[in-house]
Amino acid sequence: MIANQYMPYSSFEFLDQKRPILVFGRDGQVGKALQKYLKNIQVPTVFLGRSDCDLEDESALRSVLNNLYPQVIINAAAYTAVDKAERDRELAFAINEKAPAIMAHFIANIARGIFVHYSTDYVFGDTKHTDYLETDPTGPVDKLSVYGQSKLAGELAIEKIFNLALHLRRQQRADLFTRYFILRTSWMYGDGDNFIRTILRLAGECNELKVVADQIGVPTSAEWLAKVGILMAESSVESGIYHAVPDGKISWHTLAVYAIKTAAMAGKRVKLKIDNILPVSAAEYPLTAPRPYNSRLNHQKLKKALEEIGFTDQYPHWQEQVQAYVNDYVKASLKIQ
Ligand SMILES: NC(=O)c1ccc[n+]([C@@H]2O[C@H](COP(=O)([O-])OP(=O)(O)OC[C@H]3O[C@@H](n4cnc5c(N)ncnc54)[C@H](OP(=O)(O)O)[C@@H]3O)[C@@H](O)[C@H]2O)c1
Repeated sequence: MIANQYMPYSSFEFLDQKRPILVFGRDGQVGKALQKYLKNIQVPTVFLGRSDCDLEDESALRSVLNNLYPQVIINAAAYTAVDKAERDRELAFAINEKAPAIMAHFIANIARGIFVHYSTDYVFGDTKHTDYLETDPTGPVDKLSVYGQSKLAGELAIEKIFNLALHLRRQQRADLFTRYFILRTSWMYGDGDNFIRTILRLAGECNELKVVADQIGVPTSAEWLAKVGILMAESSVESGIYHAVPDGKISWHTLAVYAIKTAAMAGKRVKLKIDNILPVSAAEYPLTAPRPYNSRLNHQKLKKALEEIGFTDQYPHWQEQVQAYVNDYVKASLKIQ
């Protein structure tokens, strides 16, 4: 368990100073980014990893919640092994549906509780060729991977629990209301295994690389997602689902070319020639679990919410985030050599 103690900074003024912000998924990509952003916060923050609380164990989770008694939960933990989930259905649902439902139930029933949960474009089953809105129907379930189904089940459980709690407390003062945010994102990269790191490693080893060119999405930085999660939690923004991705859209192939060119310019030794990064169709590269062809999430709702809460940073484009990430990654790996 990592716990910070009362560092001098920040808002979260509405919080009871004795009750911590509790973060699950400490060692994941978003979890590590959250540690960085919550480092200097004034209220106590507790980060839990699998060894502190295995989310498969419902009673362990309940006792952690009752003992720590958090007012804010940020759930960055998830079963994210998309292909493995196809044969590990029960575990995927335990981590992606049941555990978040227990967290949501805890927070939904306290005054001014806040729950931030991360979700995915995999809840959509290629029913559209344009950007998905938050209000678009999810599924159909039979077109989703088990991972997608389990994340969707998590979303539905959270919404149901909060809607019921709100209904039961409708006589209460609005400023005591509890709130939730489900941040759907796509193609994430941070401090962990991800597409960009794999591609950069292969660029140093291979003479030729085939990359899927007919799946479209938006690469998203884990650091930015962590920041968005904290901003939403601190704000008075309305509860609900928000699509959290930067501007722009791209194929895996274009992302691979961009990342490798950027890495070469930053000084990485690249064996692979750009012309030898060959575009292929997803059908030529079958994987155990189906992946969406269209992962484009419309983010206008989030953009508007961030403007309303006076967040002055310019809304990012995937390109500037990937460029900064690759530059930092190359700089760090050159230092190690
Ligand atoms: N990565 C993407 O491309 C992507 C895209 C869209 C949405 N998302 C969503 O974004 C969120 C964060 O993703 P991420 O990439 O940061 O995930 P990640 O790096 O895979 O981290 C997930 C964390 O969950 C923890 N976890 C898994 N099973 C657990 C269990 N039984 N008990 C306790 N902890 C457990 C893992 O612990 P260990 O470290 O011990 O394994 C890991 O630290 C997730 O909700 C994911 O669904 C991710």
